[in-house]
Amino acid sequence: MSLLTVKHVTKSYQAGKATVNNLSFELNKDECLGIVGESGCGKSTLASCLLRIAPIDSGSIFFKNEAIEQLNERQLHPYRRNIQIVLQNPAAALNPKLKIKDSLINLYAQYSRELNHSHFSYTSRDAFVKQLLEGVELPSGVANQYPHELSGGQRQRVTIARAISIEPELIVLDDRKP
Ligand SMILES: Nc1ncnc2c1ncn2[C@@H]1O[C@H](COP(=O)(O)OP(=O)(O)OP(=O)(O)O)[C@@H](O)[C@H]1O
Ligand SMILES: [Mg+2]
Repeated sequence: MSLLTVKHVTKSYQAGKATVNNLSFELNKDECLGIVGESGCGKSTLASCLLRIAPIDSGSIFFKNEAIEQLNERQLHPYRRNIQIVLQNPAAALNPKLKIKDSLINLYAQYSRELNHSHFSYTSRDAFVKQLLEGVELPSGVANQYPHELSGGQRQRVTIARAISIEPELIVLDDRKP
């Protein structure tokens, strides 16, 4: 079954100049798709459209055969869990006042009731954080640090761990420039 179908999607910020122009592709479960292009060609714009952060001008985006532009706020809730984004600028995704362990738990806590199992039921909160950090090959000491104490790449791995924590069906990775 198709996980994501993008059909003839067009999005422009300026009249007469399309950033995303009549784009179509399909992505199935367990597949990876890389989208490459020069700076400013519309990769992050596409990511915003997929997450319904930016409305599209025309075309359709289907997630598991459901047109996302037609979802209301209530229907968007499970969609927003199932499709996660790792932002190009990871600093923007982490609250500078929170320790990494608290940022990691935040998103999970928001959706824990909807997940089939609770990590907290068989392990401690700290063990769960440690497991998430191990998954992205970060040392457990990172848990007690603040975002500004990490490198850009480490911060990005924290945001990947955070996205994975709620078991989304699709992750959009908007890569950071070297
Ligand atoms: N919110 C916005 N309002 C107006 N214009 C925007 C907005 N977001 C992006 N743009 C414009 O749309 C174009 C595509 O930007 P986008 O961020 O999608 O590029 P990108 O492919 O992600 O580039 P990079 O590789 O540098 O991240 C650029 O010309 C940009 O100025
Ligand atoms: Mg970008």
